[in-house]
Amino acid sequence: MKEVVSESIGRPTGARFPPGPKGSLVLGVMPEFNRDTLAFITRCREYGDVVRARFFYITCYFLYNPDDIEYVLSTNAKNFIKSMSVRSNFFHRLIGNGLLTSEGDFWRRQRRLAQPAFHRQRISSYGNTMVEYAERMLSLWKAGETRDAHRDMMRLTLEIVAKTLFNADVSGDADRVGRILADIVKPFASQATLKWIVDNRLPTPAHRRFHRLARQIDDIVYRIIEQRRAGGSDEGDLLSMLLQAQDEDGSQMTDKQLRDEVMTLFLAGHETTALTLSWAWYLLARHPEAEAKFHAELDEVLGDRAPTVADLPRLKYAELIAKESMRLYPPAYGVGRQAIDECEIGGYRITSGSQIFAFSWVTHRDPRFFDEPEGFWPDRWTEEFTNRLPKYAYFPFGGGPRGCIGNYFAMMEIILVLATIGRRFKLKLANRRPVEILPAMSLRPRDGIQVVLEHRRSARNY
Ligand code: HEM
Repeated sequence: MKEVVSESIGRPTGARFPPGPKGSLVLGVMPEFNRDTLAFITRCREYGDVVRARFFYITCYFLYNPDDIEYVLSTNAKNFIKSMSVRSNFFHRLIGNGLLTSEGDFWRRQRRLAQPAFHRQRISSYGNTMVEYAERMLSLWKAGETRDAHRDMMRLTLEIVAKTLFNADVSGDADRVGRILADIVKPFASQATLKWIVDNRLPTPAHRRFHRLARQIDDIVYRIIEQRRAGGSDEGDLLSMLLQAQDEDGSQMTDKQLRDEVMTLFLAGHETTALTLSWAWYLLARHPEAEAKFHAELDEVLGDRAPTVADLPRLKYAELIAKESMRLYPPAYGVGRQAIDECEIGGYRITSGSQIFAFSWVTHRDPRFFDEPEGFWPDRWTEEFTNRLPKYAYFPFGGGPRGCIGNYFAMMEIILVLATIGRRFKLKLANRRPVEILPAMSLRPRDGIQVVLEHRRSARNY
């Protein structure tokens, strides 16, 4: 196997600005970026490890070297805030000043308050819900039928997050929040950069609709918070943890802060997980040898029973499937930052206010770090390979202080759901066409993933 080292291409030779595509006079690279985002950000790597690109009037830098990505996300994280796109009106109206969007001391306090809710032990108690809800979904599945696996995974992870967040079975309010959220996010899926920059400030019909839907969500979430405060009981869910969380000075979150965190967790906590599951089913269906290994593990570890949290250490191959799926299809395919003070990255001077992006979609497929980068090969993740890999050559959950707070929750959910479904059903692709990717806020299958269900042999009893 190729030696994995953090090589550099195109390091500066005294140039003031990093190289990059010129783009058009007014819009810069925006048309190219919008035409085919993934191809464009991949092509840009050919310019070097640090690439300069102008979007309309905004200068951006793309980072392709894991060391530089580590510098921005982790070692020098203090010099960076979230990028403009995250601070847009759209995000702000929806998730306010929640963990994903807040900054500075306020963010630090909120992260400290929320952290215990994501403690491994606390999260483990949600394992049963994950399996139970997946089983409930399977009770409606029938061998031979064609289903959209992406839609099913979205629905399932929404139900799971609603239950673990609000202790709500999604027949009621939480379901409505989910549906409105899905509705809200849809038009933005196809919105490209110019709209992010300009249009979302204009009173267009789409904009008015967005605010109307956001108000409806607010009403529901505030009502849930109010009821919970009045009831005063610990429901064992994330909302109870957040309600009880106290800072050292005894202060607690206000209703507005709670609302923002709840919305953040609702939004951040289900689509990303659903996407990983959807892409994993897609990849397994296209790689029968990996699928066979997955089934063999399930038969050996579980036999004829459903998985539990206690099985996680033995569901090793399922974990590698999750890892490799997120390498090829990282749901959050790019992370963005804005430089506070001028700094140097990869030998280039980066001015204050610059927008900086690292694209896991590209880095995860960089042949300098991954042999046969386009191949789905869960077995590549040996301990030796992982130890040799530069830390930020693989970053599906981001990293540093702003890294994903829900990564353990997500991994647990992905493995348990894969195992629960994989034990009973085989998902075969309904057609041979490769699924088209829609790089919206996250990496979605444009028209879902159509699968035909087949009973597993070992699951004859069902
Ligand atoms: C496969 C599933 C997931 C993926 C790929 C993912 C990915 C990410 C990434 C890349 C970031 C960092 C963004 C940045 O640096 O700008 C992040 C942050 C975050 N994620 Fe996740 N996430 C997943 C699941 C979850 C879940 C299940 C939850 C909660 C239940 C969650 C809650 C959050 C929150 C609150 C943040 C902001 C943390 C902070 O800034 O303090 N995520 N996630």
